Amino acid sequence: MDIPTVSVDTHARRATGPIVLLGAPGAGKGTQAKLIAAHFGIPQVSTGDLLRDHVRRNTPLGQQAQAIMGRGELVPDQLVCGMVEGRLAEKDCEQGFTLDGFPRTVAQAQWLDGRLQAGLLRGKPAQKVPLLVIDIAIDYGLLVQRLTARRTCPHCGAIYNLHFNPPRKPGVCDGDGSNLITRKDDEEAVIVERLKTYERQTLPLTDYYRQGGALRRVDGAGTVEQIAQAIRDLLERRGDVSCRSSA
Ligand code: AP5
Ligand code: MG
Repeated sequence: MDIPTVSVDTHARRATGPIVLLGAPGAGKGTQAKLIAAHFGIPQVSTGDLLRDHVRRNTPLGQQAQAIMGRGELVPDQLVCGMVEGRLAEKDCEQGFTLDGFPRTVAQAQWLDGRLQAGLLRGKPAQKVPLLVIDIAIDYGLLVQRLTARRTCPHCGAIYNLHFNPPRKPGVCDGDGSNLITRKDDEEAVIVERLKTYERQTLPLTDYYRQGGALRRVDGAGTVEQIAQAIRDLLERRGDVSCRSSA
């Protein structure tokens, strides 16, 4: 699949099991999912990235999703769940995976619970590790500033910020020299709609997962490294993350 990925150290791959990153648009889900991938060797499964890849390739799903994403609304559950099911069936998800931007509705969360209970990871090392849901909590005031200043590498997927994490050379990816792009939904009017959508449809998930006991919260207002450390601490503290080779 031709979507940006980070290189992961497969020798350090660990059976983290399934991880969900919750948080408002701009909370830092993608930034942290890449750091989890680099540290624990498990893939980032970003539904936003997967959908943007469908749009780029002009697939039937991409054609349906494009206008919806442009308005800052959610793509229908059935379409997104089908896409996620296919991605989680790939071999690199056997030890665990970080879901970035999924689930986003209670119906998607119920679907995921059903798939995990039905043995999505059946026979795999990560099977015994319960779902961990990490909510990156942040004040809305910071989000617009973060999102309007975001720039992304279309090839390696690196995420930059003109204020907080600028590239060394303006407009150019440090990693592979590609020209950086601005996401179409990062204009202020669409950001406002995305935040409304988040409040209405995704915020209820924090209660859903709190009741199930899977929810942990980190402070999204810290630096990227502070948040990454808090997430690593959560994962290591679970005591059930064991080092395994990818072989
Ligand atoms: P998606 O791509 O998931 O967008 P989003 O949820 O709006 O989240 P973002 O990617 O904008 O933010 P992020 O939390 O990843 O932050 P990032 O790390 O980039 O979804 C796009 C669209 O696809 C949706 O609107 C919807 O239409 C559709 N969709 C996707 N999933 C779906 C689903 N499950 N169901 C239905 N529809 C779905 O960071 C943001 C900026 O802040 C960057 O510039 C970064 O460098 C900077 N930054 C990050 N952390 C920090 C920090 N600690 N300090 C300072 N700056 C920071
Ligand atoms: Mg993202």
